[in-house]
Amino acid sequence: MSAHIIDGKKFAEKVRAKVADHVTRLKEENGITPGLAVVLVGEDPASQVYVRNKHKSTVEVGMNSFEHRLSAETSEADLLALIDQLNTDPAVHGILCQLPLPRHLNEELVINSILPEKDVDGFHISNVGLLSTGQKSMVPCTPLGCLMMLRDYHGSLSGMNAVVVGRSNIVGKPMANLLLKDSCTVTIAHSRTKNIEALCRTADIVVAAVGRPEMITGDWIGKGATVIDVGINRVPAPEKGEGKMKLVGDVEFASVVEKAGAITPVPGGVGPMTIACLLANTVTACCRAHHLSEPEGLTA
Ligand code: GUN
Repeated sequence: MSAHIIDGKKFAEKVRAKVADHVTRLKEENGITPGLAVVLVGEDPASQVYVRNKHKSTVEVGMNSFEHRLSAETSEADLLALIDQLNTDPAVHGILCQLPLPRHLNEELVINSILPEKDVDGFHISNVGLLSTGQKSMVPCTPLGCLMMLRDYHGSLSGMNAVVVGRSNIVGKPMANLLLKDSCTVTIAHSRTKNIEALCRTADIVVAAVGRPEMITGDWIGKGATVIDVGINRVPAPEKGEGKMKLVGDVEFASVVEKAGAITPVPGGVGPMTIACLLANTVTACCRAHHLSEPEGLTA
């Protein structure tokens, strides 16, 4: 039987609606409008699209969006000065510095200069430490979105065997920590893992976050497992016409859908959840800054 398709687009709409509800309440009951500042350095075309989408989504849920576009030649001192200004601005509850940064800028230094309470990406070393010790933190948006979908589909994740394929700081490692916090037995697999196919076949949950198009095929997946595909890869699509491209995940959908119990598609799975979780994190940061109760179901 074919797997249940987890509709990330629909789920992300629900998350946005919850965020918008909470924003309305914050405005009406507390006179507070949550604000998200996004900093873009340089003209990377993909980053420009992401930043535009973030701005549009932020405004759509009723929050303030502060966009700062800096030239590719911006000095580290000038960028740090801007972040300092945003750190102290009470109208700004969340700060996101779009990555990658131009090569002359030290990404770690820049990320760690954002106040941890305003770090809606969850990349600051303090948030990484808090999450890995199971404490309240800001959680990276993509793994948070994956967790929300898993909880929604399964209810409790307690006792499940989860394999996270990929060990990046942005997805793999925080995903593993979140699953561990929800009492899964977690293995992180990567390019040097031995018998990776057999390992994945033992999993109740497989999260694919390697950035290699369609690497995970049906014979890697145990019958009935839940497969979360974080990959977004642009590949040639000659079947659509000469020079045409299409998006595929890290999972070969056609073969995995026949083995899995549930699967997120690409596009329309994890992708839409990432921006929804950025908005959720901004509302959470705003509530924490004002010592107000946090919206339910929008945090880890
Ligand atoms: N570039 C691509 N994805 C992301 C993200 O989630 N956060 C930031 N800051 N930059 C990115």
